[in-house]
Amino acid sequence: MRDDHPGASDSAPLSEETDAYYDISNQILRELWGENFHHGYWTSEEDDSSNQVATDRMTDELIARSGVGEGGRLLDVGCGVGLPALRLAERTGAHVVGVSNNEEQVFDARGRAEEAGMSDRVLFELGDGADLEFPDSSFDTVWAFESLMHMERGRALAEIVRVLRPGGRLVATDLLRAGPMSPADEELVRAHLEAMSAGPLLDLDGYRGLLVGSGLEVVELLDITPNTKRTPRRIIDAVDERHDELVERFGPQVAPLLEVFKAPVGLVEEFGYLLAHAVKPT
Ligand SMILES: C[S@@+](CC[C@H](N)C(=O)[O-])C[C@H]1O[C@@H](n2cnc3c(N)ncnc32)[C@H](O)[C@@H]1O
Repeated sequence: MRDDHPGASDSAPLSEETDAYYDISNQILRELWGENFHHGYWTSEEDDSSNQVATDRMTDELIARSGVGEGGRLLDVGCGVGLPALRLAERTGAHVVGVSNNEEQVFDARGRAEEAGMSDRVLFELGDGADLEFPDSSFDTVWAFESLMHMERGRALAEIVRVLRPGGRLVATDLLRAGPMSPADEELVRAHLEAMSAGPLLDLDGYRGLLVGSGLEVVELLDITPNTKRTPRRIIDAVDERHDELVERFGPQVAPLLEVFKAPVGLVEEFGYLLAHAVKPT
């Protein structure tokens, strides 16, 4: 359903389209990148940390802002296969509910929670982040860890604000328009977002307006593009190296997805990344 929340857009993807996108990309992302389905965080141009280290470091940036401790309650909207939620639960002692619209991810994440002996306080559920099945004011913190771009952002934020308790926090990362682009780059970005089932980019001012318009107070809104740019570079290199092997293993239906992953859009400097921390007023 489309509506006129701030950030609503006719080109925002539908949950079913995103679900279908992840049905194919779950496996390929693991092969090309790793099991944290988000960008890595590198501290400098010299920092050559592995994908695993850099993506865990990004999770740690979110954990540091989460504000939950033992007994706290955090909702992870768009939880992937659950690594960030489990890492947060292990480090803070909080209770976590992860929601994804992709069944395979939820199954996988539940298995990991069981294996880690944490299934009593880390739950994973199938659901739509833009239509949450939780009561009002039921979480201390909500994470939207690289997931809002797949939803109508204004609608998802309205749901997030509803389930947050007054004084509760939103911690999010998202794609960002980090500067003006040439018409050719605009077209590259548009086509890429469509192929990865993502909505349009906002710049920092647009993002601030979206958060404020959703009833949140912005604590931090950071352009962390330079810390994340190794991500597309490494994915492009991995596709170059492993294209034929992956098509042979997973079948010709993965070839179009490999084209999406190796698209030069990742090298467009203004195709950026942000970290946001906001609170619901008391
Ligand atoms: C880039 S991945 C990030 C996954 C995870 N947060 C992580 O960092 O590993 C985006 C996630 O958002 C989920 N997602 C996309 N649209 C959704 C929706 N409408 N409702 C729930 N989850 C959604 C995807 O299935 C996927 O798990």
